[in-house]
Amino acid sequence: APDRTLYERIGPEVLHDLVTRFYSLVAQHPDLIPIFPADLSLTARKQEAFLTGFLGGPPLYHQEFGHPRLRARHLPFEITPTRARAWLACMNAALHQTPGLEAQDAAELFAALSRTAAAMVNSPEPEA
Ligand code: HEM
Repeated sequence: APDRTLYERIGPEVLHDLVTRFYSLVAQHPDLIPIFPADLSLTARKQEAFLTGFLGGPPLYHQEFGHPRLRARHLPFEITPTRARAWLACMNAALHQTPGLEAQDAAELFAALSRTAAAMVNSPEPEA
């Protein structure tokens, strides 16, 4: 039915799989390695909780960690346009690698994340 949320269409198992693939790509991306912790397990757990609510499911992040204040939480990290593109490239690859995702759902999720990623940019590109 068209009124099902993206969370209901994707489901918790596929979402978990997507987040796992995403952070394994982040861990290998030269533009992202410098700002992420070496151990991404807590980051992945928080992201899975956040995306559950973001996609219309239960507000797990809010329940466990409080208001996400996403832009404020990202301010300690230098997020340049290049890093936002790198983040989205990892997400796009993870979306394509994850079995069980409908193309329409993947496209909708990517569009929503593209807008959020653009809003996280807080630094200009470093001088060459
Ligand atoms: C945390 C980078 C976009 C959601 C983080 C952390 C970094 C980061 C370095 C801290 C990791 C840690 O210490 O655990 C980036 C970069 C982005 C980006 C470079 C590119 C634009 C996004 C977007 C979302 C998001 C689009 C939401 C869909 C989160 C969440 C956390 C997080 C939920 C965990 C916050 C917490 O500590 O509770 N991000 N991020 N990020 N990010 Fe991003």
